[in-house]
Amino acid sequence: MHQDFLPPGIAVLTGAGISKESGIDTFRDEGGLWTQVDLEEVATLEAWFRNKKKVLDFYNDTRRSFRAAGIVPNAAHEALARLEHDYEGEVTIITQNIDLLHEQAGSRRVLHMHGRDGEVRCMACETVFASDDDLTVQSVCPNCQAIGELRPNIVWFGEMPLHLEEIYEVLERCGLFLAIGTSGEVYPAAGFVLHVRRRQPRAHTVELNLEPTGNKNLFHEHLYGPATEIVPPYVARILKHGWR
Ligand code: APR
Repeated sequence: MHQDFLPPGIAVLTGAGISKESGIDTFRDEGGLWTQVDLEEVATLEAWFRNKKKVLDFYNDTRRSFRAAGIVPNAAHEALARLEHDYEGEVTIITQNIDLLHEQAGSRRVLHMHGRDGEVRCMACETVFASDDDLTVQSVCPNCQAIGELRPNIVWFGEMPLHLEEIYEVLERCGLFLAIGTSGEVYPAAGFVLHVRRRQPRAHTVELNLEPTGNKNLFHEHLYGPATEIVPPYVARILKHGWR
């Protein structure tokens, strides 16, 4: 179908809430990860320089928890994969999550703006490569042989998120922007809805979350409840009737 006649694109921002019912903790909910661990100790570049072992052990544990039995995509991930498959226009998932549940559900256009599980980066030569092995201060870079310079390829607080140029291009050409399972507390992701509204005044924006967030009033439409209960029917509705 010629590009000019494709329906407008759909941009979907997801956060930890979409993976909660798959068994992965969120960060800021009651009992969330940042209520258990001080993020300043494990999720900043300073923390890595201050105590590499503590940071690497934290991510070794996180990676193992993602691979525990039963951590599989849920109905919300599957609905978004269906949306990408069945919608004639472009569907892009912009995820803040490092888990790979969107891909495992069948989504193909997934931008991991905070990095992704199973990837490692060398701080000496900047090489990024796939690895499921635990990282230690003795780990050797297979490219430059540096010792103790390997870190998870995850964006820490204070670091620049990944794929921002492509993300803003997607936001500026979308006709529908969904935010699913994110508290809207961390920028630049929390500012995406405003960016869409400024650059695409006709775009429709929807917040789908367990409960209203501080960003609530920036969205045209709101659906609240567990992602597995609100996302599949919403996807079915827009595939059948559109979103207006
Ligand atoms: N269904 C839908 N939403 C849910 C569910 C659920 N079952 N459970 C929780 N939520 C919602 C919560 O109400 C909350 O608004 O998911 C949101 C999770 O918010 P956070 O824990 O702040 O996670 P997130 O928004 O992804 O955090 C953004 O902050 O710590 C950094 O890099 C980390 O990517 C993360 C970023």
